[in-house]
Amino acid sequence: MKLPTGLARASFGAVALLALCACYSVPRERRPSFPMDIHSHAEPARVRVTHASLDLEIDPARSELRGSVVLSLDRADHESPLVLDAKGLAVESVTGTDGGARNWSLGPEDAILGSALTVELLWADKTVRIAYRTTERAEALQWLAPGQTADREAPFLFTQGQSILTRTWIPVQDSPGIRITFDARVRAPQGLTVLMSAEMVGPDAGGAFRFRMDRPIPPYLIALACGKLEFRPISPRCGIWAEPSVVDRARDEFADTEKMIEAAEGLFGPYRWGRYDVLVLPPSFPFGGMENPCLTFATPTVLAGDRSLVALVAHELAHSWSGNLVTNATWSDFWLNEGFTVYFESRIMERVYGPERARMEAILLIADLEREMKELDARDQILHVDLAGRHPDDGFSQVPYVKGALFLRRVEDVFGRGRFDRFLRSYFDSHAFQSITTGQFLDFLKENLFTQDPELAAQIDLHRWIEEPGLPDDAPRPTSKALADVDVQIRRWKEGTEPAALATREWVTQQWLHFLEGIAGALDAGSMAKLDETFHFTDSGNAEILTVWLRLSIAHGYGAADARLEQFLTTVGRRKFLEPLYKELVKTDTGRARAEAIYARARPRYHAVSTAAIDPIVGAKP
Ligand code: BES
Ligand code: ZN
Repeated sequence: MKLPTGLARASFGAVALLALCACYSVPRERRPSFPMDIHSHAEPARVRVTHASLDLEIDPARSELRGSVVLSLDRADHESPLVLDAKGLAVESVTGTDGGARNWSLGPEDAILGSALTVELLWADKTVRIAYRTTERAEALQWLAPGQTADREAPFLFTQGQSILTRTWIPVQDSPGIRITFDARVRAPQGLTVLMSAEMVGPDAGGAFRFRMDRPIPPYLIALACGKLEFRPISPRCGIWAEPSVVDRARDEFADTEKMIEAAEGLFGPYRWGRYDVLVLPPSFPFGGMENPCLTFATPTVLAGDRSLVALVAHELAHSWSGNLVTNATWSDFWLNEGFTVYFESRIMERVYGPERARMEAILLIADLEREMKELDARDQILHVDLAGRHPDDGFSQVPYVKGALFLRRVEDVFGRGRFDRFLRSYFDSHAFQSITTGQFLDFLKENLFTQDPELAAQIDLHRWIEEPGLPDDAPRPTSKALADVDVQIRRWKEGTEPAALATREWVTQQWLHFLEGIAGALDAGSMAKLDETFHFTDSGNAEILTVWLRLSIAHGYGAADARLEQFLTTVGRRKFLEPLYKELVKTDTGRARAEAIYARARPRYHAVSTAAIDPIVGAKP
């Protein structure tokens, strides 16, 4: 029988919809809308993944994950194929709900996005199962040899999904606007513990680790780690995972975490993710922290011994609201994640450690932003950033973080804390488990705060803040007595006071950082040697202080720090520390030669996120 195809499809579609829709499709009116995401191939308005069921085996010997994922589908359009994102994955087979093979194809590979993995569905398919394994091109994964871990005993694996790397270890619709639930069954070699960004529902009879995340999350938050790990509780819902030799130190450093959760709940409403644990990773972890739900991943470089760098935990915890509960719908809206989070981080720090500590940290961040902004293209100084043709991480800077937070601080200052807090609370409650765009946020802000007091609203130029480069003149400028005290000592040092005669007793980390940046322009190798004699910066166990000191050592040719620099660059993989050091090194010919020599040794120990940032600086060919 030959019918005009459109008609045949339409009538069959209507009947089938009536027959099938009720049992598995989400009613149209409950379907979320999906803004265009230029960093994903998915077409979620047609066919959308709602759940991923992973069954994986971790094979450190081959540096490979293999197994399968069963994806549950919401099919608004039964004529359309399922389109997924995949990059560097070896797909072995694709089957439909009845277990039969389905036609599939991998589109051309884009260097940034990877390929579209397109699966032709049969009418009755509610799920597809993809059998696959990862390859050496899985940028999300870092496989560590035992020698790269703290205890040097066992291999280690961790994943980093943000921003668009989940597609390198799971075929999914890898857009932050497409939220999914997941469960997982993961097998690993004997003696290793597997953790995921989910509730652990215990090992099964076969010894596999099992997990369940029943709240819808963006795919970049699916995370996995595996290694020789131990746990120490902090409170009934919170604890620390780390390698055996690190775990007690980490537990002490992060002892205030439960207090932070309570402070955050007091500000923004209940913590909605069950447990909040922190996993301290080996030093090659490319970030300070990553807000994987239920399980923040953290760098060991925040273990300073004096809790001075725990703002990082406040930050990742704050993402449990800003980022994980309400998520940027596209990477151009990244400031919604990070700007809110830096703002909340500061509010949590204020509650737990007092306003002076929060102000000091804010002032340091603003100084960082202003230093960085001098070197940034105008387009990257804009909160609502244009990423056309670029990897989301290319526009990465303090702009979404600190300018974003300053914008919120400005709104708070204008409307008053009480009103602004009520607004934020309603923002989280009304957008919980949703992904939203900058435009949607601004509409909500106007409707729920600005229209209530047009006179106050007139003091804030939204367009200037959100769509234009630079820092607006009305940006808040916090002040701090503790840092003003440091300014006095900076002046005295510049006037020739000996280091030992400076009033530095009981200075905290933030004061030392302010001091070092304050004297940076007036240093030379000789004065650095004198400072080092008194303050022992080269031996500092505080990675923030050490990184600034090492950068200044390179800039001023202070050779006594050379060995420490080399040791640091070959053990630590945190992008934020590597970038300024390599950038400083390549400024001179001899420095460049050193950078190349060090990088040749260190590169194999860095995560792909860090090599992507350092390759262009050192001029290395990947
Ligand atoms: N979510 C980010 C890390 C991230 C950003 C990963 C963009 C991939 C792409 C995390 O919350 C973060 O901001 N970490 C900071 C810590 C912080 C205290 C500002 C870091 O890693 O330095
Ligand atoms: Zn963050």
